[in-house]
Amino acid sequence: MSELIRFGVSIEKDLLVKFDKHIKQKGYQNRSEAFRDLIREDLVRKEWLEGKEVAAAITIVYDHHKRELVNRLTNIQHDFHELIVSSQHIHLDHNNCLEIVAVKGSPKRIQLLTNKIKATKGVKYAALTVATTGKDIV
Ligand code: NI
Repeated sequence: MSELIRFGVSIEKDLLVKFDKHIKQKGYQNRSEAFRDLIREDLVRKEWLEGKEVAAAITIVYDHHKRELVNRLTNIQHDFHELIVSSQHIHLDHNNCLEIVAVKGSPKRIQLLTNKIKATKGVKYAALTVATTGKDIV
C-alpha cells in the first residue's frame, strides 16, 4: 500500500458545511475517505476520456420473443468480442430478459458497443456502468 500523506486544504466554510452534510448522508465516517473517493472518481473519468483500457458493465433489458432482436444483439456482441469478458443472462419473467455484459478494453469501443445496443430496435433499456481496471487507481 502507498504511503499516507497528510496535507491541509483551504476551503470556504459554507462549502465545507455543505460537503460534511452531504458525505454524512452518504454514510462516510470521515472527510478523508470522501475526499479520496472524489479524487478516484475524477481519475476514472480521466481514464474514460484519455485512457487505453477501462472496465465496465453494460446492462440490457429486452423481450426475447422478438426473434430478430435476439439475433441482432448476438451479432453486435460478436462484432465486439474482443471487449467482452463475460455475460450473464437472467430470465426476469415470461417475456423479459436482463443481460449483464462485463467488458474490458478501449473506452471508445465500449461506448460504441453500448450505443449500438441502445440503438437496437426493441431494446427496452441499456445502460453503461463505467468502472476501472483498477491498475492506475490506488
Ligand atoms: Ni431470458
